[in-house]
Amino acid sequence: MEARDALRTTGASRVFTPEPVTDDTVAAILDDARFAPSGGNRQPWRVAVVADAAQRGRIAALMRPVWEAYVGAGAGGNTPFAFGLDSDAAPVAAPNALLDDIDTVPVVLVVAADLSKVALMDGDLDRPPITGGASIYPFCWSILLAARDRGLRGVITTFLSRAEPDATELLGLPAGHALAATIFLGHPQHQATRLRRNDVASFATRDRFDGPAFGADGG
Ligand SMILES: Cc1cc2nc3c(=O)[nH]c(=O)nc-3n(C[C@H](O)[C@H](O)[C@H](O)COP(=O)(O)O)c2cc1C
Repeated sequence: MEARDALRTTGASRVFTPEPVTDDTVAAILDDARFAPSGGNRQPWRVAVVADAAQRGRIAALMRPVWEAYVGAGAGGNTPFAFGLDSDAAPVAAPNALLDDIDTVPVVLVVAADLSKVALMDGDLDRPPITGGASIYPFCWSILLAARDRGLRGVITTFLSRAEPDATELLGLPAGHALAATIFLGHPQHQATRLRRNDVASFATRDRFDGPAFGADGG
């Protein structure tokens, strides 16, 4: 499909039809996604393609308390787990189709990053680093786009990162690696056609972040 259409219409899908996705298709998706950019072209990604039902169940069990803590922390309108947010909100049980039905999701990919291959440009600043993610999340996004090109949809999730200490042994995560994302893919039951996103003028400014708005309305 047209790149611009793909960029504008690849929304998150969390509910899938039972139609299976072959290993060959998953391999082809990863074969496209590997062309994603990364700092120094060091390609820090590792992927566990998790098909085993018991393994999936254990992954979902690790994710569930994170999900419930996330829902609880967001109940007051905050961004859960945001930097500087000191939330002691109680967990809230809530349905989550991905976790409740993880055994029926056609494809579950756990993506890790080899930290020895990631330059943390902002690692010494007095705030949590963010630049390291830039060497792994373009790869994750390319997985969604490559899936989309094959009629598949999915969603990037990060619940499992919060449970990384417990997930390490379960997944055989190598030392010095970080869990970046768990990606769910399949044939979607619903396809969003119009994504809700903020206008360019709401986030782009001229010359400085406190400069005049840039964009169709901002000039
Ligand atoms: C870094 C990242 C983490 C995300 N984590 C989750 C998640 O844990 N669970 C989930 O259901 N969706 C998750 N999402 C999907 C977002 O909720 C979704 O991209 C956003 O709401 C926009 O949805 P839309 O594209 O359908 O409009 C995540 C997306 C990103 C990029």
